[in-house]
Parts: sequence; structure tokens; C-alpha cells
Amino acid sequence: MKTYPIPMVPGPVRVPAAIRNVYLESYGSGDLETDFIELYTRTQRRLKEIFTTRDDIVIMSGEGMLALWSALKSCLVPGDRVLAVATGVFGYGIGEMAQSLGADVKIVGFSYDETINDLARIEAAIAEFKPRMITAVHCETPSGTLNPLDGLGRLKQTYQVPLFYVDTVAGAGGVPVLADDWQIDLCLGGSQKCLSAPPDMSFLSVSPKAGRSSKRWAMWATTPSNPSTRPSRIGISPIRPVGRALRHSLSLPDCCWKKA
Ligand SMILES: Cc1ncc(COP(=O)(O)O)c(C=O)c1O
Repeated sequence: MKTYPIPMVPGPVRVPAAIRNVYLESYGSGDLETDFIELYTRTQRRLKEIFTTRDDIVIMSGEGMLALWSALKSCLVPGDRVLAVATGVFGYGIGEMAQSLGADVKIVGFSYDETINDLARIEAAIAEFKPRMITAVHCETPSGTLNPLDGLGRLKQTYQVPLFYVDTVAGAGGVPVLADDWQIDLCLGGSQKCLSAPPDMSFLSVSPKAGRSSKRWAMWATTPSNPSTRPSRIGISPIRPVGRALRHSLSLPDCCWKKA
């Protein structure tokens, strides 16, 4: 494998040996042992700090797209209006994903070398289209751009849009993410970019409103996400090695903008 002093790639990034070593550990049954729940809870706590949120955190085994799809599939039904604010491949792509689920999608599009810079255009679209969900991408990895999200959050609040969905797969852990301040209901991250873990974990914050609005069987229902119903044992396959790898990466000082 070729290595570069500064790998100018969007990820997956090089995984430090300490994190790779976690995968060599053996692990026991989620039916008989409680360690996984403890690990899950500690990791949730750290991810809340990374997202600067009080909302619940759901962690899943799977690449970043799993978080993107599960949030859309859990919260949308055909006919829901979705306003996709798009400045790059992923922003436009999320609009297409919502459309494929039967949502009525309107795109407010910018070119790939722009960031969100015309709130008046977005405001007019929200006022006219009255979306149930606004979607946006924080860091558009292929373009290398970072979108400001505070203005979108204010518009969401002013127009009482129920759900604000943000892909920060490439931002989480690398730059501040202020999910609560920016009014984000579904904040989506992945393990393999700024967090320097392998590409097999995704996670999202779920606001109470997003949780209540899950209209069909929520894709995150199989994870021990709800503290009030959290079991001491779980009947699903525990994702302990990947969970441990993520937890380990979250404690590395050079992986995150915000230290533990
Ligand atoms: C902004 C953004 N969102 C989502 C994804 C999807 O993540 P994954 O490749 O882990 O499925 C990527 C991956 O490059 C990304 O850059």
C-alpha cells in the first residue's frame, strides 16, 4: 500500500495501528454479557460531545451511507415534501435518495464550487414549498467545501419546518458541529474520515421530534438507542469490535477538534 505524508483523499483515511489492533480482540455474547451496552453508552456520550447535542445518539455497524439512508427511510413516507439544499455530489444525491423513496423533492441548488450563500433564495423556497424536511451537507467531501449551517437552522425554526437533516460524515470530529444550536434533528456521521477508524460505523443524533416522527419501523430500532428502554442485554449481534474501534478513535487526541 502506498502512503503519503499528507494524503489528499476524502477517506477512508489511514487507520492507526492502535485502532486496527482492537479488531484482533475476541468478544463474547451480547445475550450473556453486558460489556457491549456499557461500551455503547460511553461511545454515545462522546459522540454527543462531538455533535454538541443533548439528543439521543444511535450507532450502527455499516458505512456512512447507512446513516443517510436510515434517517430518510425512518422519517419519510411517500409524498412528504423535502427541500434539498445542494452544493455538491452528496447534497444533490440526498435529494435523489429522498425522491427514490417517493418523497416530493425540491432542490435549491448551487454549483459544486459554492457554499450555501443565498439564504434569501432558500427562504423563498421554504415559504412556498413548506417542506417537512430540509436536507443539507456540512462538508461536501468531493468539492472540499464546508457549508455554514446556522442560517439554515434559523430558517428551519422561523418556518417551523419539522425536520432538519444534515450529512456531516466528513465533518464530524474534524470541525465544530453544533447540532443543537443549528436546530439539526438528524445529524449523520461516519467513522472513516476525521475519526480515523475503519469504514464500518455510522452514527446519528435523533431529536425527540425526529424520533416521534418515525412513521414506519425505524431502521435504528434494533440498536439499544433509547435510554429509557435500554436493555442490560441485547438479542442482536453486538458490534463490539467495531464499537471498540470507534470508541478508541474518539479518545485519540489528534483525531478530533474537541478533546475529551
Ligand atoms: C459527505 C459524505 N457523505 C456521505 C458519505 C458516504 O460515506 P460512506 O462512503 O462511508 O458510505 C461520504 C463518503 O465519501 C461523504 O463524503
